Amino acid sequence: MAASRGAFSSRIGFIMAAAGSAVGLGNIWGFPTQTASNGGAAFVLVYLVLAFCLAYPAFMAELLIGRYGQANAVTSLQKISRNLLHKRFAFVVGFGGIICAALILSFYGILAGWMMSFAIEPITTLLGFNEASSWLTSQSMERNLVFTALFMMLTISIIRRGVEQGIEKWSKRLMPMLIGLLVLLIIYVFTLEGAKEGFEAYLNPDISRVFEPDLLISALGQAFFSLSLGTSVMVIYGSYISKKENLVTLGAQVTLIDVSIAFLAGLLIIPSMYVAQAQGVAIFDAEGGLISGPNLVFDVLPTLFNGMGSIGLFVGFGFFILMSIAALTSSISMLEGPVSFVVERHNIARKKATTFIGIGIFMISALIVLNFDALFGLAISISTVYGQPLIAMLCCVFVGWIWFRNDILNELKQGNDMVEHSLFWKIWPWYTKFVCPTAIAIVFWHSL
Ligand code: PHE
Repeated sequence: MAASRGAFSSRIGFIMAAAGSAVGLGNIWGFPTQTASNGGAAFVLVYLVLAFCLAYPAFMAELLIGRYGQANAVTSLQKISRNLLHKRFAFVVGFGGIICAALILSFYGILAGWMMSFAIEPITTLLGFNEASSWLTSQSMERNLVFTALFMMLTISIIRRGVEQGIEKWSKRLMPMLIGLLVLLIIYVFTLEGAKEGFEAYLNPDISRVFEPDLLISALGQAFFSLSLGTSVMVIYGSYISKKENLVTLGAQVTLIDVSIAFLAGLLIIPSMYVAQAQGVAIFDAEGGLISGPNLVFDVLPTLFNGMGSIGLFVGFGFFILMSIAALTSSISMLEGPVSFVVERHNIARKKATTFIGIGIFMISALIVLNFDALFGLAISISTVYGQPLIAMLCCVFVGWIWFRNDILNELKQGNDMVEHSLFWKIWPWYTKFVCPTAIAIVFWHSL
């Protein structure tokens, strides 16, 4: 069974794949945007604390469930279950996560399509196809459908190849490119006028805002989205890790990469905005806050790139390729959730299952594109505001209240025989049992 379901062939393969899932539009767009609208470095500070104190333990819970179960999210959770009630509960949590992943992919694919169309625009401009350029950068139903379809095709083509040849191979190729591009862009932006001011604005915390409930809620939501929690994705990636690996350090490494890339993205986006301001672009909205959301990525930054002359074409291309790569390594993980479930539970061949599920999710995206105002925000809030925290919390409940402590320890000991005497084992079990579910529940309640 294990051989036929695939596995990551190496430690670095897992790290790249899991970091690839974690690092996405959430890091490069969401994080800087939230930072800009939530008091700059105060948000960064709260985010760092919550990422390590709440998201990391929950992330460990999901990885561990998967590695123990060596199967899709539903089957893995059911292996921990001890009676019929637990089994039903396991189905609801596991399947809920899978649906959540599919729903996220349906809107994420649209956003990623925008990134791809903006990445192609510098090429058409360079070739002098001005009409094509303006089609690529203006909102239209046709453009959104075409590029969502293209992006889904890319996602499907990687997942059809399986874990090692698809997910692992492509994450290992794309992640170093992403990091390289990000660093190059930061270095370039730092040579421009206005960047220093942006740098200061980014790293100067307004400490008085640290305990604001809205800021806490946004930071926790951001941390959960960023670590792909509550979507079955980390359970399935955990199930592809070898029993020889030390999960505690692997999980910490992935969290660290995720947080560092979000931080780096802030170093790119916020100084870029101040550079744009130095060139006469408005970067504050009517209320005096920094412009965020779609306007930032699709107005402010492109205006900045245009103002740079011909080098701006390359910078713009690099930036939107960066966004597209980040989106792709995340979208493949979202598709793997439902695909692994159908392949393992219904015995359908991977290629066939991937194509059908991918097309099914594209149809939901198309429905969203056709009813954008009514459905886009709704899909985002059902999946990320309600679905993810709820399911992540229930995974912690599974680990804390249903799974036997000894069985957890035995699973952790594989690849880490000293774990019993580590700080991790002293803190994490009760933390996952009491602190994580309570904290998530409080924040969730507040956000309602
Ligand atoms: N973590 C990804 C990002 O930050 C998004 C994601 C959510 C990926 C849920 C998989 C599952 O963009």
